[in-house]
Amino acid sequence: MDDVRNTAADRPVRVLAVVNQKGGVGKSTTSVNLAASLGELGKDVLLIDLDPQGNATSGFGLNKNQRELCVYNALLEGVPLAEMIEPVGIERVFAVPATIQLAGAEIELVSALSRESKLKVVLEPVKAEFDYVIVDCPPSLGLLTINALTAADSLLIPIQCEYYALEGLTKLLDSVRLVKTHLNPHLEIFGVVMTMYDSRTKLAQQVVEEVRDFFECKVFETLVPRTVRLSEAPSFGQPVTVYDPAGKGAEAYRSLAKEVIGRE
Ligand SMILES: Nc1ncnc2c1ncn2[C@@H]1O[C@H](COP(=O)(O)OP(=O)(O)O)[C@@H](O)[C@H]1O
Ligand SMILES: [Mg+2]
Repeated sequence: MDDVRNTAADRPVRVLAVVNQKGGVGKSTTSVNLAASLGELGKDVLLIDLDPQGNATSGFGLNKNQRELCVYNALLEGVPLAEMIEPVGIERVFAVPATIQLAGAEIELVSALSRESKLKVVLEPVKAEFDYVIVDCPPSLGLLTINALTAADSLLIPIQCEYYALEGLTKLLDSVRLVKTHLNPHLEIFGVVMTMYDSRTKLAQQVVEEVRDFFECKVFETLVPRTVRLSEAPSFGQPVTVYDPAGKGAEAYRSLAKEVIGRE
């Protein structure tokens, strides 16, 4: 696989953790489609699925049930991450899959040495091969998410355009502050992306305004619309940029990818 993977040594890598402890806000959808869109734009991307549910894994059409290695084996058994990096069928885009085995990691990590820094350590030797490493986090603030915050340069927070959108975010920001103080002083919020936006409802517009008031310029201009295609694509194991390349969902994630690149 090394022949297709770029190995430029010292380019700046951006490790982005896609995080929000609420489930169903669009973390996995954003991880998969942003990764695919960055690949389209010529970037070398690695997506690490850190959620035992494996939605990003299956979203790329990778089997999350029968496989020998997943990110669990890297975090808890010291298997090199390089051994589990797989192509996802899109040029320049690779993934480290998750299986349900990863669910055990949350508990097993508790007693592990340097339990918060496992991901950071295993990522180090492969990082330089990519422009972006995107880490799809589980819907909790447990040790897996803390590992992502410790390994990341910055955070991408998807927020669903719904009532109580901001609820629970202070908890997330508290965790970010703790990790910054003790484990990763350079951690920053890279951006906030509004998902499942429905331009026909006043509520969606109000939520966007409320989130812009709170996070100010951190909020991306791109609003990811609620589209059936985005929710269908995972069942075909494809990012929306492949499943429905000319649709609104693909357009939105391409536009988000451009904003991400532009923020460097
Ligand atoms: N923009 C969107 N439009 C329609 N459905 C979406 C959109 N974003 C996500 N979904 C759907 O909403 C559900 C939750 O999204 P997901 O990305 O899995 O959230 P999370 O990873 O935060 O739990 C999934 O069924 C997904 O297909
Ligand atoms: Mg998810």
